[in-house]
Amino acid sequence: MENCRVGHEDCTRTAVNLSLKISLGVCGVVLTILAVGNWILWDKLGSWELRRDHLLLDLWTMVGVAFAGYFVVRRLTRPLMELTELAAQLGAGQLERRIRSDESDEIGQLSRALDDMSRSLQSARGDLEEQVAIRTEELRKSQVQLLQAARMAAVGELAAGVAHEINNPAGIILMRAGQLVQSLTDATPEAAEDLDAIQRQVDKIQRIVTALLTFSRRAESAGEMTVLDVNQVVLRTAQLMDGLLRSRHVEIERSLAADLPPVRAEGARIEQVLLNLVNNAIDAMPEGGRITFGSACQGDRVAIYVADTGSGIDQEHLDRVFDPFYTTKDPGQGTGLGLTISFAIVEQHGGAIEASSDPGKGSRFTLLLPAVKNSHNGRIPEAPDVE
Ligand SMILES: Nc1ncnc2c1ncn2[C@@H]1O[C@H](COP(=O)(O)OP(=O)(O)OP(=O)(O)O)[C@@H](O)[C@H]1O
Ligand SMILES: [Mg+2]
Repeated sequence: MENCRVGHEDCTRTAVNLSLKISLGVCGVVLTILAVGNWILWDKLGSWELRRDHLLLDLWTMVGVAFAGYFVVRRLTRPLMELTELAAQLGAGQLERRIRSDESDEIGQLSRALDDMSRSLQSARGDLEEQVAIRTEELRKSQVQLLQAARMAAVGELAAGVAHEINNPAGIILMRAGQLVQSLTDATPEAAEDLDAIQRQVDKIQRIVTALLTFSRRAESAGEMTVLDVNQVVLRTAQLMDGLLRSRHVEIERSLAADLPPVRAEGARIEQVLLNLVNNAIDAMPEGGRITFGSACQGDRVAIYVADTGSGIDQEHLDRVFDPFYTTKDPGQGTGLGLTISFAIVEQHGGAIEASSDPGKGSRFTLLLPAVKNSHNGRIPEAPDVE
C-alpha cells in the first residue's frame, strides 16, 4: 500500500487506487473461473447463439463483479484510510480532527482510542502553552524588576552624593533668608515677597533632597520591622486620606481579603508607599472618580493594591513610571521620585511592585510582600488608631 500523506485528497486517491486494485484482482479471479467454465461448457453449447448469449452473460457478470467488488472494497477500506489520515495528522501536530465511529468492531474501537488520544494530546498542548505563557510573563516581570533595580542602584549612588552636596548650601540659604526676613522690619512688600519666594523654593529643594536621600539610603532600615496585618495598614492609609479624597470627589472602595497571612514590614514605610500611590491616583482623577484599596493572598505573598478610575497610563509610559525623575506633571508639581522611592522601599522588604493600566479607564498598582509563614504565636500587633 502507498504511504498516505496528510492531505485528505491524497488519502482519498490512495483509497480509490487500493479499491481499484482489489476489484481488478477479483475480476481476474472471476475471469479465470469463467474462462475455465466456458472451456468445459463450449462443446455442450451446440449453437452459436447459445455460445454468444453465454459469452455476453459472462461479460455482464464480470462487469457486475468488478463494480460490486470496487464498492465493497471501498466501504471496507474507507475507515482504515480515515484512521491512517488521522494518525498522519496527529503526527504532523494537527490535533483538531476527530473521527466519529459508532461501530463496535475493532476499527470502531481503534477510531475511538485514536480520538481519545488526540483529545488528550490537544488538552496537554493547551496546558503546556498556558504554562509557557505564564512563565514567559513571570520572566518578563522579573527582568523588568532586575533592570529597574540595577538602574536605581546606579542612580542611588549618584543621588546620595548630589543630595549631600546640595543639602548644606540649601540649608545655609534657608537660614540666611530667614534671618533676612527677621532683620528687615521695614522691607517693601516686593522685597518681602521675593524673600518668601526664595524660602519656598529652597524648601522645595530640601524636600527633593530628602526624597533623594531616602531613596539612596534604601538599604538602611530606618525603623523596626514588625509582623503586620496589611489590612490594618491599608485601612489606616485610607482613613488618613479620607478627608482629602472626599474634597477631591473621589469615592473610596475597600476590597480586603479576610484571613490574610501577616507580613514582616516597616509599617510606616509601607504606609509611605501607599500614600504615594494614593497621591498619584488623586492627580490622575482631577474630575473625581473612585479609588479601590484591596488586598489578596497570592501564593506565598500578600498583595496590596491601589486602583483608580483615572486617566490611565499608556504602555510606552508604563515601563518608565518607576524610573527616577520620570514625571508627566508640570514643573514644580512632581519630582518623579514617588514611585522610584516606593519601588526601593518594597524591594527592601523583599517584595515587588507592579503597575498595570487600561489607558483612559484607570490604573492599578500592586505591592507584593512575602507572607510570614510562622509569625510568633500567630499574633499580629494592632496598628495604632488614627486620630
Ligand atoms: N495612578 C496613576 N495614574 C496615571 N498616571 C500615573 C499614576 N501613578 C503614576 N503615574 C505616572 O507616573 C509618573 C511618575 O510617578 P511618580 O509618583 O514617580 O512621580 P510624580 O507623581 O510625577 O512626582 P512625585 O511623586 O515625586 O511628586 C507620574 O508623573 C504619572 O505620569
Ligand atoms: Mg507621585
